[in-house]
Amino acid sequence: MKEINVNVAIKVVMPDELTADDRELVERAKAMTRTSYSPYSHFQVGAALRLADGSVYGGSNQENAAFPVGLCAERTAFFYAQAQAPELAPVAIAIAAFTGGKFLEKPISPCGMCRQALLEAETRYGQPIRVMLYGESGIYVVNSVRDLLPLTFDGSEMI
Ligand code: THU
Repeated sequence: MKEINVNVAIKVVMPDELTADDRELVERAKAMTRTSYSPYSHFQVGAALRLADGSVYGGSNQENAAFPVGLCAERTAFFYAQAQAPELAPVAIAIAAFTGGKFLEKPISPCGMCRQALLEAETRYGQPIRVMLYGESGIYVVNSVRDLLPLTFDGSEMI
């Protein structure tokens, strides 16, 4: 029997350990939670995505009475950015969640569909996206979406 081990390096940092740019991105993600439309889950998620030219696009989760129709904050920000500037690679994304009157203590964990969606941009532009997951107790930082989605399906085997 063979065994494959997947190792992922996750840095856990406080805001003052981030660069000024990354701290700003996290602050923007936190601010974006206020634009969430989440009357069903009461879980307000904000995301901020930085493109290669330094521009930042924000998004928040948008829900619907027909639940599957809604969209997560990450994909709202990502698709918005891609639609405005398809020539620019996304380089970093920050995500935050606010519920019950406070930001999550533990870092927010993005859903599988958002991981898959963001991964496609790494393949499309050939460069990794740094991901920052905000929690009051610390911020998880990984250098690539691939780290959050091992054994990725990226379409490379399709003819
Ligand atoms: N949600 C996000 O927007 N991003 C995440 O990373 C996790 C979940 C949203 C979807 C739904 O509107 C609400 O949070 C509860 O699942």
